[in-house]
Amino acid sequence: MRRKLPQPISRRSVVGALATLPALWAEARAGDARLPAQLFHRDPPPPASAAEVLDVMSFEPLARAALPPAHFGYLATGVDDDRTVARNHDAFAHYEIRSRRFADLDRLDTSCTVFGVRWPSPLYLSAVSGMRAFHPEGEAAVARAARTRATQLMLSTGSSVAPEEVAGARAAPLWQQLYPTDDWRVTEAVVRRAEGAGSTAIALTVDGAAEPRVNETLKRAMLSDNRQCGACHMNNQHDMWRKAPMFAGLDVSGVTRLRPASLTPEYLDRLRRLVRGRLVIKGVVTGEDATLALEHGADALVVSNHGGRNEETLRATIDCLPEVVAAVRGRIPVLIDGGFRRGTDVFKALALGATAAGIGRPQAWGLAAFGQAGVEAVVDILNRELGVIMRQAGTATIADITAARVMRAAG
Ligand SMILES: Cc1cc2nc3c(=O)[nH]c(=O)nc-3n(C[C@H](O)[C@H](O)[C@H](O)COP(=O)(O)O)c2cc1C
Repeated sequence: MRRKLPQPISRRSVVGALATLPALWAEARAGDARLPAQLFHRDPPPPASAAEVLDVMSFEPLARAALPPAHFGYLATGVDDDRTVARNHDAFAHYEIRSRRFADLDRLDTSCTVFGVRWPSPLYLSAVSGMRAFHPEGEAAVARAARTRATQLMLSTGSSVAPEEVAGARAAPLWQQLYPTDDWRVTEAVVRRAEGAGSTAIALTVDGAAEPRVNETLKRAMLSDNRQCGACHMNNQHDMWRKAPMFAGLDVSGVTRLRPASLTPEYLDRLRRLVRGRLVIKGVVTGEDATLALEHGADALVVSNHGGRNEETLRATIDCLPEVVAAVRGRIPVLIDGGFRRGTDVFKALALGATAAGIGRPQAWGLAAFGQAGVEAVVDILNRELGVIMRQAGTATIADITAARVMRAAG
């Protein structure tokens, strides 16, 4: 068969084609008011693998599509109007990065050291309870991802997989997040079990939800979910101490809530005496509380508002960070979580004095969409983006990311 040779493009054909353009353009404008770039935009097909997802936020709609409404609602919800959830992320726009151009970037090193342990990057996975709501393998898959990425995992008291199994899958010490409950005997048992499973740090959450919770987004999502949920939620029961493997075998008849009625400095002293390893206090948002926690034995703080899930303060954690850093004066590590979705967000937190940044929802989005591979991809993307902005800003090491690399945005 004779191949059809390409026809030479004549001047006449080009001129002819160009002549039709204004007409096409006018037609397009008449029918559609969008710009040409938008007119020719085509939505790409949904990613078939985690590796195809471009950025962290793109995992959210994938998780939404993968999950039943009530489970997505549980993940997405804030409190009241969910505005603090949005603020946490939006407030990164309050800070701009000051790039320097003359630096030796031959060797970029994103590693940092926390409690004497070298982390490949200042990113960790924060506590998220009940992760089997997002994927059948739940926290076990997250732990395997944490292992392949050598990322610190803070395990929730409400983990839906037993702490020993998660520790085995991670194959390195966990940090155990602690909801102490209002029964000290249960607190003791939970701390001892976590330590027995190899946790080197206990992270006491101090921003626990007041009762009753006002997570309206979750409640609306539950109303729109008409599945039969009794197989997992016996008697429609959601109390963590009755469900989570961490409490299995304990007498929880005296427990009425996840936190003690009075969370006083004396309580911190008592917990300090109980905990054998490091004591991390998660949920501090003011300089005053930072000083107090430090005076009562904290080995590290996490600036956190629980991802905006428990209180509608409208204060983003990144805006709370400077006063906590100022109060701590470098004496202990200051970690932070809330709204971290880009490598530049992590960079800004480090420049404002944080030691490391944690993620909550993004790991669950990745898990829901692609299981272990999704969590790995989320971590990879954030670490890659952090490396990119470090190179752009002229910071070869984490230590180079100083306060001089960030400025408050005008207005
Ligand atoms: C579904 C879900 C469950 C959570 N469970 C816990 C928990 O059990 N204990 C805790 O201290 N924080 C918990 N958190 C808060 C996270 O540890 C973290 O503070 C927060 O998610 C960070 O904000 P981000 O989701 O915007 O990254 C949870 C967050 C989510 C989204």
